[in-house]
This record gives sequence, structure tokens and C-alpha cells, in this order.
Amino acid sequence: MVEFRGGKPSFLALALDHAGREVLATLRCLLPGWRCVLADDDATLGSGKDTAAFVAILVVPKEVGQSELDWMERAHLAAPELLWVAVVSPDHLANVPLMKVVTAVCHDFFTTPLEAVADKLRAVLTHAAGFARLRAQLGQHDDGNEQTGIVARCPAMRRIDALIRKYAAVDVPVMIGGESGTGKELVARAIHRASRRSEGPFIAVNCGAIPENLFESELFGHVKGAFTGALKDRQGKVAIADGGVLFLDEIGDLPLSHQVKILRFLQDGSFEPVGSSHALRVDVRIIAATHVDLTAAVREQRFREDLFYRLNVLPMRVPPLRERGSDIELLAEHFLTQARLKTSVKARGFSAEARQALHLHRWPGNVRELINRVSKAAVMTEGSLITPEDLDLPHPVAETRGSVVNLQEARERAERQVVEQALRNSSFNVTQAANMLGVSRMTIYRLLEKHGIRIE
Ligand SMILES: Nc1ncnc2c1ncn2[C@@H]1O[C@H](COP(=O)(O)OP(=O)(O)OP(=O)(O)O)[C@@H](O)[C@H]1O
Ligand SMILES: [Mg+2]
Repeated sequence: MVEFRGGKPSFLALALDHAGREVLATLRCLLPGWRCVLADDDATLGSGKDTAAFVAILVVPKEVGQSELDWMERAHLAAPELLWVAVVSPDHLANVPLMKVVTAVCHDFFTTPLEAVADKLRAVLTHAAGFARLRAQLGQHDDGNEQTGIVARCPAMRRIDALIRKYAAVDVPVMIGGESGTGKELVARAIHRASRRSEGPFIAVNCGAIPENLFESELFGHVKGAFTGALKDRQGKVAIADGGVLFLDEIGDLPLSHQVKILRFLQDGSFEPVGSSHALRVDVRIIAATHVDLTAAVREQRFREDLFYRLNVLPMRVPPLRERGSDIELLAEHFLTQARLKTSVKARGFSAEARQALHLHRWPGNVRELINRVSKAAVMTEGSLITPEDLDLPHPVAETRGSVVNLQEARERAERQVVEQALRNSSFNVTQAANMLGVSRMTIYRLLEKHGIRIE
């Protein structure tokens, strides 16, 4: 059972207009055992984190335009660890863009008048607060943002988040695979930060970028006079990483001649600086990363099998961006917020077409490519909403131009395209695809039948 220790449970309340504030007055009457903390702008929302509230109630304003939708998403982004509940009026239910945002960011919603649903409201809020509190006690957040700096809400990334915590709790080598730009280094740093070595250094070595003749000295250091130009003793990265983590990045690009040197070090934890005959010992944890398929490299004898097994104790694969469903939009918002914090940027959000284009793109450069496109678009855009053109992405419907005979056909094609993409992005999970598109599962099944799409 969840108890509310230390007084009344609190909720953060957000209302933008007069009608919203009236709804809040009703809420207060209906929830006498609760403390209401008003957060009517972004700043108080940020500081609202100190109020011990676990639930945020967002009263949707009477008039809803794009700026109100942006405001709702921004508010949620500022405190994703809270459980969000919306209050809408019956008229709002027909506003599709609004309800899409509500279902995307909120745990639940209630329709006014609240007096009619008072019992249910109390039950849902109590349950939601208990659930959110439990999650906070267990150190889990909605998108992992605060703890790890990693935006991770889709199931695939939540698994990564869980692995980070598991792997941080032990002290053996980790091997991180995944395409370029997926966030391998970010994950390695998160493991370090969450581990008992967090006070120690995190030293990264790019194994593919060190010139062949400097590799040994770069890694293990050298003594004065070891070679021409060695004017004094110099510590290598391995010694500098003592007490912390040595991150062997792009390990798959390491030439065979160097692989054996690393292997020797991993086997007994000792090494000799170049030019020295004294073995030194350090206490480092190894985390390696690569975009190369190491099992294939081992098969083709480009990578030593013994080294592979030494490094591949705790494996994980960071999924490519195209497999992260609605996280694509969440990340795009996240990087837009970052761009807005750095410079004065007009853009406040993404147009519906831009959101669709983000899902249709294949993202060969993954998160790094998304950062570049969003940063550039934030600067280039003329309006308050970023368009597909600002992102240098094809306009979702424009792709079908040329062969289109009429509007109906264009609509059908676009519909089919979006459904297929949502299914791909959710690894063919109908519930997730439905959430992504803001429709019910039944609608997805109807669309599958209509377009003759089969899920194997
Ligand atoms: N889930 C995420 N949330 C927030 N930022 C992310 C996420 N994934 C990646 N990034 C950001 O994307 C950029 C690329 O990440 P990182 O350098 O860790 O990727 P990588 O897999 O090591 O790439 P490369 O193969 O190019 O070295 C970084 O700026 C990182 O902060
Ligand atoms: Mg990297």
C-alpha cells in the first residue's frame, strides 16, 4: 500500500485562462485532502519540482491554438517525471490535434463538469500519485532524462535505461553496439555516472583514430627517452583512468596488432609504459563500443575471438533512431528546447507535416543527424513552426506527386504510408502504433483491412 507520509499529497495545477482558474477552484473543493500548487508559467513549473507533487493537472484553456498546444507539450517536457492529467471541456473532445497532444502527454483526462466525475477523479489521482511516487522512489522517470540525460520513452529505449542501471551495479566489462550516432558514448557515460566509479574519471580512447605508431604510448604512457621526442615521462590513458572507466570507443576499428596489446592488459590488469620494464597496475572498468558487427568480424578473423569474449561480458545494442517510434518526436522537441535555450529562436514547435516527415525519414545518421537537422531548422525557420523544408526532409505528401490522379488517391496513399511507418516504428505493435497516431486500436485494424496491410 502506498502511504502519503509527511502530510497531504500535492498536485501541480496549470491553468492559462479565467475558465481554467474556475475549474481549479472546483478541483480544490473536490479534493479537500490535497495541496494545490499553482504553476501557471514555465518557471514555476520548473521550481514546482521541489513541491513534492507527483501529479500535474493541466486545465486546457477554452480557446486552443498552436501556441496552447506548444505550451502543453513544453510544460510536459519541463517535468516529464510527473504524471499528467488533463481537464477538458466537452467541446474539446472534437478537437483532434488537441486530443492527440492530450493522449500523447497525459496519463488520463477528465471532462467538465468535474462534479459529475468527482469520485472517479479522486480515485484516479490517488492512484496516479501513488504510482508516480513509487516510481520516483524506485528511481524511475518517465523518460529517464534527469538521471541519465537520455531521452528514452519507447519500449526499446526503456530497456536500455533498465540495462544502464543493471550494468552500473556491477563492475565487469560492457560492450555497447549500435549504428553511428545512436548514443553509445552517452550510454557509456550514463553507466559510469550511475556506478560506484562515478567519482573516478571517465577516459575515452578512440581506437580507430590513434596513429599506429603512437597507440601504445597513448594508451600505456612512456618514460623519458623511450623514443625520439620522449622528453619526459608521460602517463597514458590507462593510468589516467585509474579508479574510473576506460571507454574504448570504436573498438571494432582497432588493428589486429593493437588488439593483442589490449588483450594482454585485460588479462592481468597490468601494463608497462613504453621504454619501462616495470609493470604497473591500475583499477579500471572497461566499457567498449563499436558500430561494427563484431561477431562477423570475429568470423572473418578481423577481430580476435579471445579479446571479443573478454570485452563482451555485458552486451547491449542501442537501437537505431528509426526503431524508436514516438521518441523521434520527443527527441526533436528536446533538441529544439536546447536550441532555444542557447539562442533566440523563433520556432516554438513542429508542424504536423514536419512531425510526419520525422517519422518517414530513415535516419541513417541517427540521433546525431536529428540534432543537426533540428539545430539548422531552428535557425533557418521563418515561422513559429518548423516545416519539413526547414528540416531538409521531403514533404510527406509531395513524395506522391507526379503519379497522383486525384486528391482522394493522394489521401489514401498518405494514410497508408503513415500507418505502415507507424507500424514499422513500433516494431509492428498495434497498440503502440495506435498511440503514435493518436487513434484507437480498432481504427488501426480497420485501416489494416482497408489497405490490405498484413502483419506477419
Ligand atoms: N536518447 C538520447 N537522448 C538525448 N540525446 C541523445 C540520445 N541519444 C543520443 N543523443 C545525443 O546524440 C549525439 C550522439 O550520441 P553519441 O556520441 O553518444 O553517439 P555514438 O553512438 O557514440 O555516435 P558515433 O558512432 O558517431 O560515435 C550526442 O550529442 C548525444 O548526446
Ligand atoms: Mg561515439
